[in-house]
Amino acid sequence: MNKMLKALNKQVYEELASAYLYLSMNTYFKAEGFDGMANWMYKQWKEEISHAGKISEYINDRGGRVELEALPKPQVNWSSPLAAFKAAYKHERHISSCIHKLVELARKDGDLPTENMLAWFVSEQVEEEATAMDIVDKLEKIGDNISALYMYDSLLGQRE
Ligand code: FEO
Repeated sequence: MNKMLKALNKQVYEELASAYLYLSMNTYFKAEGFDGMANWMYKQWKEEISHAGKISEYINDRGGRVELEALPKPQVNWSSPLAAFKAAYKHERHISSCIHKLVELARKDGDLPTENMLAWFVSEQVEEEATAMDIVDKLEKIGDNISALYMYDSLLGQRE
């Protein structure tokens, strides 16, 4: 496998590790009685699986072969919904930085097809960071107002 395909293979791992983290957050929220946030994380888990799939398909299309790596055990508990979403935001920033490094590598190699494929992920990361940041901001404003927290939980539960 060439250097670019190896780096993309690593990104399949990163996306699956994201999925694993968000499924862990899903079960945390479910256990804490925040069904809306649990639903939000479940949808996010599915999105991350599809991101891993997109990159995996691309590697196949380029004649490479994905080698799946072992995933680390994700964190299982957070001190509050705010702490969990702060961790999700931080994680998305990490993923954005991984994607940007891949784009740099593709540019260095003059690998236009890979750069083009990654353009979708660059835009997706802008959206993912903005969404997570917005939720963190709202949860900070809600603070310890329990009724507002449950109302917001119900709103996040509407994510399709
Ligand atoms: Fe696929 Fe949330 O990065």
